[in-house]
Amino acid sequence: MRFSALAALIAALAIPGFARAADAPAGALSCSGCHPGAAGVDTPAVRLVGLPATDIESAMRAYKSGARAATIMDRIAKGLGDDEIAAIAAWYASQPK
Ligand code: HEC
Repeated sequence: MRFSALAALIAALAIPGFARAADAPAGALSCSGCHPGAAGVDTPAVRLVGLPATDIESAMRAYKSGARAATIMDRIAKGLGDDEIAAIAAWYASQPK
């Protein structure tokens, strides 16, 4: 098995709830440790799938700048560049609900 196929298989198995986890941009799958991928999971962190990309992006920028109060998202957002945030937001918005 080629490495890319193996990596895709591992990604697909590791993150239930995402139809196309192999297409995820860098960093996107790290969010699902707290924000559930599958519908119907009861967690304090909202589900990102189905949110408009512009909402995810503006929230991440506000966390990054400190304009929006956070317990954890400020640190996560500071670790991502604007292009990475845009790619992650677009990916979550494009996931089947
Ligand atoms: C360690 C757990 C954790 C991880 C990992 C995490 N988040 Fe969060 N997220 C939270 C929590 C908790 C909140 C509520 C704000 C706070 O307390 O920081 C939140 C809030 C948000 C919100 C605002 C949702 C809303 O409408 O209120 C967005 C957008 C978001 N996260 C996106 C992301 C993205 C994108 C990633 C991956 C790059 C990510 N989060 C990774 C825990 C996490």
